[in-house]
Amino acid sequence: MIKLGVNIDHIATLRQARKEGVPSVVEAALACEKAGADGITVHLREDRRHIQDYDVYSLREILNSKLNLEMAATDEMLSIALDVKPNSVCLVPEKREELTTEGGLDVKNNKENLASIVSRLKKAGILVSIFIDPDLDQVASSSEIGTDCVELHTGKYSLLFKESGLDSLDCKNEIKRITKASKEARREKLILNAGHGLDYENIDQICKIHGMNEFNIGFSIISKAIFTGIEKAIFNMKSLIERNS
Ligand code: PXP
Repeated sequence: MIKLGVNIDHIATLRQARKEGVPSVVEAALACEKAGADGITVHLREDRRHIQDYDVYSLREILNSKLNLEMAATDEMLSIALDVKPNSVCLVPEKREELTTEGGLDVKNNKENLASIVSRLKKAGILVSIFIDPDLDQVASSSEIGTDCVELHTGKYSLLFKESGLDSLDCKNEIKRITKASKEARREKLILNAGHGLDYENIDQICKIHGMNEFNIGFSIISKAIFTGIEKAIFNMKSLIERNS
């Protein structure tokens, strides 16, 4: 079955609104694990707008599942990752003004810098993933620089699903683009993950794409959890994934 990594950045977003320690990121992570999450993902942003350094260290100590650290490909983040040693790192692009990660990393035009970061992480025993747009050139470039895994950006698909509907030509074309990129990733023997904007309505189609290893989902699960609690929000997402994979 396709695994579910739960991104808990927005638990920290809420905590940072008051900076009084609640809701606890550690407590949320443990609740996610109890509900069946296969791993916990956090994005330590350069501006520290939600997850803080101490969250990453605490999660590394207490998690029974896996810690996936999303980070920009910078020297500062590399040295934190090499110190924390999460199970995996997902390299993402980062712009200060953005509300969330807007596009995939441009591996094709940054091969040299990224290859060196990938190699240093791998040498430390950390599994490396790169968050890319579902684009054949980006998949090929990612493979060339030695990553273990790619996470395909499903943000455009999820927007088209919401705005134009699943039956629209644009949405169908985007699914085709993700399918093609997935096939190329499998051909390159890369571990295949997907994420961004996935929710209870749009997950079915992505589950049907052959060879998916893991989804990283945050916003929809944490939003649902406000009304149902984290355990039910995760249980429902896992049921959808199970039903469709
Ligand atoms: N994967 C990556 C690489 C991301 O940057 C994000 C957003 O932090 C996600 C998955 C999760 O996206 P969402 O919160 O929209 O589910």
